[in-house]
Amino acid sequence: MQSPTASPHRGSWGTRLGFILAAVGSAVGLGNMWRFSYVAAEGGGAAFVLLYLVFVALIGIPVMTSELIVGRMTQVSPLKAVTKLGGSGWAPLGWLFVFCGFGILSYYSVIAGWTMRFAIDGIRGAIPQDTAGYFNAVGTRMPAVVTHVVFMAITIFIVIRGVKRGLESAALILMPLLFLLLVGLAIWSATLADGGAGYAYYLKPRINELLDKQIITDAAGQAFFSLSLGMGAMMTYASYLQDKQSLGREAVTIALTDFGIAFVAGLVVFPMIFHFGLGEAIGLGGTLNTDNTVGTLFITIPPALQSLGRVGNVIITAFFVMLFFAALTSAISLLEVVVAAAIDGWGWTRFKAALLSGSLIIVAGLPSAYNLNFLAMADKLVGTFMLMLGGLFTAILVGYYALPQAEAELAMGMGTASLRKAWANIIRFLVPPVLFVVLIFAVPSVIAAVRALLGV
Ligand code: TRP
Repeated sequence: MQSPTASPHRGSWGTRLGFILAAVGSAVGLGNMWRFSYVAAEGGGAAFVLLYLVFVALIGIPVMTSELIVGRMTQVSPLKAVTKLGGSGWAPLGWLFVFCGFGILSYYSVIAGWTMRFAIDGIRGAIPQDTAGYFNAVGTRMPAVVTHVVFMAITIFIVIRGVKRGLESAALILMPLLFLLLVGLAIWSATLADGGAGYAYYLKPRINELLDKQIITDAAGQAFFSLSLGMGAMMTYASYLQDKQSLGREAVTIALTDFGIAFVAGLVVFPMIFHFGLGEAIGLGGTLNTDNTVGTLFITIPPALQSLGRVGNVIITAFFVMLFFAALTSAISLLEVVVAAAIDGWGWTRFKAALLSGSLIIVAGLPSAYNLNFLAMADKLVGTFMLMLGGLFTAILVGYYALPQAEAELAMGMGTASLRKAWANIIRFLVPPVLFVVLIFAVPSVIAAVRALLGV
């Protein structure tokens, strides 16, 4: 049932499973595979993975719970929700959310375009042995622009179809398929010679690295990116919820599924990197070569699988097709934040909102398609720093300006008072100081990315 105040253009989920799968679909995306593997490779492997898990549990799940609470409680887009709770002074936070959705999708779509390209060329058997060279050829400039535009067009189309027919049905089919394929690949990876060194790099942390500021920020930023937190995406999806299910439990389900998939992706990729001696090509342990690092996944997976001959080409194609679909369900949620703001804020129709904002995002993605340093910079600035900033203020808003309402909302469907108390304490006293410190740690890497872009 629609609440009487909701805009007629809004919409809602058909089933509880539909919501969960769409939220998982938002979380599981390029972040789990493309980003997780390159950031983990950059950040010393196992130390990063361990810190990442800590951030998911201690910061990610409580922040996700907060976003779900705010969404279901207010039943409006994040842009409006923050002022509804905190007053008009909170409007900038809503705009930060919209800006992040806009900014992230602009480069996310470029990478998703690569997955389309690799899927199609995989079918044609047209991926050469030298994938690093090939990646540099198709990953930027005109070829990248073309796939970026096609990917955005598909995303816009689905978002226009709306919540139930578009977002929900896409997720229901695609997510289970992706998971099966990944597990199959992980099992195959386990049979590779020298895979042991890959597992060691991935799973055995060197203690001194656990205190490395860079790795700490990377892990925190990855938690926000991968869980789709800090920009109101989960808030938006929860605003289409009518059932009073336990939001704490939903947050745990979404976060653990997301972590599980990223973890399995690592089990696929790291043995391959070591078996095929690709460490140097992706900048493992060497000086950071941005061009190749962001391409880690695209450079490692094809040669690994090509060794299997024709079967290999089938698997490469299947892998990138799945990755494409995972990216699509995430891109949908990014665009949805922008579209929901336009529908609620200005009373636009879904059609107009999706078409106009999608077209602007196509244009905004052009610099990333032409220059991988720009892409990397946007990923650091918007996809890491601004998400954590959004998460920090979301925690402050919920913990200090709307706590009684939030606790009441959480109490629906969530039995134990002590768990609710724990959540409130974490949101008030743990999340803000931790994120504040991590944001300070993150400043140098944002500056470094900007300098790499400017060549200074
Ligand atoms: N979580 C997605 C991924 O891992 C990307 C994504 C979708 C996202 N929606 C988001 C990231 C909202 C941050 C915020 O690929």
